[in-house]
Amino acid sequence: MAIKKIGVLTSGGDAPGMNAAIRAVVRTALYNDIDVVGIKRGYEGLLNAFRYNGSIDSENIINMTPRSVSDIIQRGGTILLTARSEEMRTPEGQDKAAKNCRDLELDALVVIGGDGSLHGGAELIRRGVNVIGLPGTIDLDLVCSEYTIGFDTAVNTAMEAIGKIRDTSGSHERCSIVEVMGRNAGYIALWCGLTGGAEEALIPEDSATNNHEELEELIQRNRKKGKTHNLIVVAEGIGNSVKMAKEIEGRIGIETRATILGYLQRGGSPTAVDRLHASVMGYMAVDVLLQGKQNRVIVVKNGKDVDIDLEEGLNEQRVYDPTMYNILKTLSV
Ligand code: F6P
Repeated sequence: MAIKKIGVLTSGGDAPGMNAAIRAVVRTALYNDIDVVGIKRGYEGLLNAFRYNGSIDSENIINMTPRSVSDIIQRGGTILLTARSEEMRTPEGQDKAAKNCRDLELDALVVIGGDGSLHGGAELIRRGVNVIGLPGTIDLDLVCSEYTIGFDTAVNTAMEAIGKIRDTSGSHERCSIVEVMGRNAGYIALWCGLTGGAEEALIPEDSATNNHEELEELIQRNRKKGKTHNLIVVAEGIGNSVKMAKEIEGRIGIETRATILGYLQRGGSPTAVDRLHASVMGYMAVDVLLQGKQNRVIVVKNGKDVDIDLEEGLNEQRVYDPTMYNILKTLSV
């Protein structure tokens, strides 16, 4: 079936590079004479695509032109806005979203988001909508892809912040606990722990890392070895970093401070890596449609951007690889 009109939305937590992806989807589609509507506020906007009188709600559905996406490749956040939709988690909501796709006469829907958002896309596929997924999340927690849009920028932001905390930690001869985002995944913690030269990274994938006695022994051992300060990166999925800092200080008598980096990791101008992948992935989302493919997700596998079946991708199982953690430990000797 020829593709005449598509919709594009961003969903879940925003991630730097989402705008570059929107730009690529819109421009590739328009270049190929495919109309594009931007759906604002993720699935919330799709669910509220129509007013009570049946007309399209322009607060949520907008026609995209090449100029709608001018000057956005360098901007963090998402011009289409985003939301976490509770209604989209229900079968009734999923039915309504699929119906709205049909009523909007969309031949395909491009969903840019993380695991939850793409699971929403899979529900639409089960209801007959042609969905193309793009992995957009700072967490890198999409099992089927080695890369997600926004991860690189978030890691660079966290790494830079850790460098600044290192300065003051060194001056005061303190132990610094830095909590980074990642939901149930420890990728941001591992990457910025390794690149920030941390002594330890506590990650949900390996419960052995979350051993406070060993951590305290490590800090004390490091003191004896001449390390006057320590940097410990804690993944959000481990949590309780403020309490942890108080307990460490109370037990071993070394001044310990916690910093939760929080939402600053979600913002900022995307790095070249995020802009590049977002642009390639956005282009590919439309290209696979032109090839007549349906229900794909664009992912990075073995370092290459490729398209795979969306539902199969969501069913892949991640096996934890301790290599990076082991390198971090070796380099912090
Ligand atoms: O998925 C991105 C993320 O920033 C996670 O790292 C974090 O757990 C979550 O979103 C926070 O979600 P919210 O924006 O709803 O507070």
